[in-house]
Amino acid sequence: MKRTMENTIPEKFRDFKSKFTVYAPGRINLIGEHTDYNNGFVLPTAIDKTIKLQFASNSTPYSCNIYSKTYGKSFSFDLRKISRREEQWENYILGVVNEIQKRGKYPEGFDCIIESDLPVGAGISSSAALESGIAFGLNELFDLDLSRQTIAELSRDAEHNYVGTKCGIMDQYASVLSKEGHLILLDCRSLEATYIPANFKHHKLLLLNTMVSHSLATSEYNTRRKECEEAVNHINQRYPEVRSLRDINLKRLVEFRDSLPEVLYKRAHFVISENDRVLKAVEAIRREDLGQFGLLMYDSHKGLRDNYEVSCKELDFLVDLTTDYEPVKGARMMGGGFGGCTINLIEENAVEDFIKIASEAYQKEFNVKPEAIVVSPEKGTHLRK
Ligand code: GLA
Repeated sequence: MKRTMENTIPEKFRDFKSKFTVYAPGRINLIGEHTDYNNGFVLPTAIDKTIKLQFASNSTPYSCNIYSKTYGKSFSFDLRKISRREEQWENYILGVVNEIQKRGKYPEGFDCIIESDLPVGAGISSSAALESGIAFGLNELFDLDLSRQTIAELSRDAEHNYVGTKCGIMDQYASVLSKEGHLILLDCRSLEATYIPANFKHHKLLLLNTMVSHSLATSEYNTRRKECEEAVNHINQRYPEVRSLRDINLKRLVEFRDSLPEVLYKRAHFVISENDRVLKAVEAIRREDLGQFGLLMYDSHKGLRDNYEVSCKELDFLVDLTTDYEPVKGARMMGGGFGGCTINLIEENAVEDFIKIASEAYQKEFNVKPEAIVVSPEKGTHLRK
């Protein structure tokens, strides 16, 4: 979707009086990529960049009006006739309303103004923020009695059924259920969450946006998911108890070295190793061993690049840059891949210097200025009256 300069308020919103505003944050993930839909572990948290959604009911039974201030675009729909549309951003919203209705809950007519400071396609989950922000607001506006976990789950389902990305639960869960100053160690099989204090003494988390939008990556993402399922189906013939890559370790995977096609072997190898890395990373953070944590980040990147094959030259360039730069303890690509951001754990007094070095080098190589965003762990979706 292109941003337009046109920003005149549509007719239907001239008298809009918001009842409350929902702040739906983007997320980062420290480690544990492509493990969520394999029933594994992830370590995400929400950040201070949000989508702001102002809500009001409009006293009609079925009419809904949405206006994106950021894009200068609006659309309307009838709650009795919800179906997928051409414009993808509309589908995030329609999908959520549809999933709420599927759960036997019925919002009434409402108006909503959306404004975002989350870059789209940067791998910090503007889509999950939009989905869960809509669900959170409707839950509040119409007393739907949906738990935070249900909001996360139905938002993920909206993405599967209306947008077409067969994503895991990580982004929506982090956006809705994060706690300030903490990371979530989420077991994506049981949805048991352990909140880990983010003790990064004298260090910052810095995102470098390649400015390569990953929005074309949906088909590759779905392919990866299918490849993992194929690997499981194969292994399952010998070990029926294996239902997901979570249920097997590297030692056992080696037994399938010859029978599994090379690509599937590499995918499985990455996912199993990445799950181990998440648990090791949590131990390292608890011990305040940031050096060890940084090494795990680099290993994660290598696996994503070589075995899972979801990186790109721009991401690799930004990660490689850091290896000779001592104040960066660890760096890796973050999120689904094929563009978006790298995440760097860096000594706080080196942040400015490093942004300068990285920007100059990246610009020289790719003729584009990378965006630098310093982030910190923040609370999940919340509202203000
Ligand atoms: C995207 C998906 C998540 C997760 C990550 C990769 O952000 O939405 O569910 O799979 O990619 O870790």
